[in-house]
Amino acid sequence: MPGVISVFGSVNMDLVAYVEAAPGRGETVTGRAFRMIPGGKGANQAIAAARAGAPVTFVGAVGDDAFGPRLRETLVEAGVDVTHLREVEGPSGIAHIVVDEQGGNSIIVVPGANGRMTGPGEAEIAAISRTDVLLLQLELPLEAVISAARQAAAVGGGDHEAYTVGAGPRPHAGRGGAVSVILTPAPARPLPGELLDAVDVIVPNEHEAAALTGAGEPERALDALLERVPEVVITLGSEGVLYGSRDGKRLHVPAVKVKAVDTTAAGDTFAGALAVARAEGRPCEQALRFASAAAALSVRKEGASTSMPDRAEIEALLAVL
Ligand code: ATP
Ligand code: RIB
Repeated sequence: MPGVISVFGSVNMDLVAYVEAAPGRGETVTGRAFRMIPGGKGANQAIAAARAGAPVTFVGAVGDDAFGPRLRETLVEAGVDVTHLREVEGPSGIAHIVVDEQGGNSIIVVPGANGRMTGPGEAEIAAISRTDVLLLQLELPLEAVISAARQAAAVGGGDHEAYTVGAGPRPHAGRGGAVSVILTPAPARPLPGELLDAVDVIVPNEHEAAALTGAGEPERALDALLERVPEVVITLGSEGVLYGSRDGKRLHVPAVKVKAVDTTAAGDTFAGALAVARAEGRPCEQALRFASAAAALSVRKEGASTSMPDRAEIEALLAVL
């Protein structure tokens, strides 16, 4: 049975230059191509989850510029419910991206409308509370993200008691009524306890994990993060993912071997697909494999929203692994 996903996050127009090697300071290089591709960590996760087979509600904001309608349309085309996509005065968010020949990237985000987002209102939190999983990232103002996480965590249901704000770390939530909160802590920044207390699963890449904990070794960063959040998934690019939970489970799931063309949004594709697998009630290792297959398929294609596989492609890859 499909689980239902909500995303409270950013949406950007990605302005992408493809080059042999990214320019250094003061250097000019000639690119081989330029594309405008809808992206933003929130929208990417919403589209990844929708393509992976779940009904998805998106809460975010576009500006009243020419990019706004195009960004909205991309979400709609992917089947994402945009009832709660706000339009605010001023420019939409953009990301200035350089992708090199190895598929690696560097990104500058100018938040635009994302920077003017506030926490979810009554109708938006009602929509989020009807879903199994809420996906969060850090491209919106931190206060807005904290508000969304805490309000979602406060929704009880099934066997889960409503979380009392300020009562310390939240007991593990999941399928069965309560909204499970998954946070991608990107771009990395220090995170207050009031946010982490409301999070069930944190999904940093290895650099974000190191920045959050001060531990360079992923295994040590995992242990440090488990003191703050019940489940931790550290993504390691082509090295796969490291998983740990407070009940003592540890897993390493290797990445699927593919030729990387553009890794932009690999982490977002992973998070979107992971949310779907968890909302469907798949066991932990199976959920990580489902998400890894989706992410590997995404790195084979250029762009963010253009690169995410649909469910049939994910299942077909899993069937031959
Ligand atoms: P991005 O910021 O580019 O969206 P990220 O840095 O958040 O990505 P990564 O750790 O690079 O996240 O990648 C997320 C997941 O995507 C990995 O754990 C892996 O499953 C998959 N992945 C990334 N790069 C590759 C690759 N080269 N080959 C196969 N799978 C990959
Ligand atoms: O995670 C990839 C995304 O980061 C891009 O789509 C870009 O918009 C930036 O937000």
